[in-house]
Amino acid sequence: MNQSYINKIFPELRKIKDPTLRQTVISAWLRAIEKGRWKRIDDIPFTLLIETKRSLIEHTRAVTDSAMAVARLRDDVDMDIIIAGGLLHDVGKLLEYMRSDKGFVKSPAGKLVRHPIAGYGIAVEVGVPLEVAHIIAAHSVEGEKVIRSREAIIIHHCDFIDFEIARLAQY
Ligand SMILES: [Fe+2]
Repeated sequence: MNQSYINKIFPELRKIKDPTLRQTVISAWLRAIEKGRWKRIDDIPFTLLIETKRSLIEHTRAVTDSAMAVARLRDDVDMDIIIAGGLLHDVGKLLEYMRSDKGFVKSPAGKLVRHPIAGYGIAVEVGVPLEVAHIIAAHSVEGEKVIRSREAIIIHHCDFIDFEIARLAQY
């Protein structure tokens, strides 16, 4: 998996205006793939909390696309930060999860550190700006101890819309 693979799975990347930001988003995904030693990532489920066929890539795109739709209705949010934050919010799942004989399970690292923190670490490592790293760190319950930015509020809610609707499939 290389740069062009990341561009292919996430067409939203083309909408990021700042070329440096676009590149750091790609670098973060490639670094997480490398660190998690993934041979392929297209079949990783977006969560292990519920039975779901929804993949991490589908979920990441759905959250990013819905956050972009919300952001288009406002003039007080930064669209580049929204797209980068949406595309990266769950990148830490490449460290939290691993493939095993029994399917996808939590990795040893994932038992110690959840994806918001793992993803924040990768983002900072590859030079993702703090406004975007904040979205990764704060998108889930970990974010309840900080004041979320406008962009982080949008990603947080779009993430839970997708999660709650996927959860309905269980009932
Ligand atoms: Fe998510």
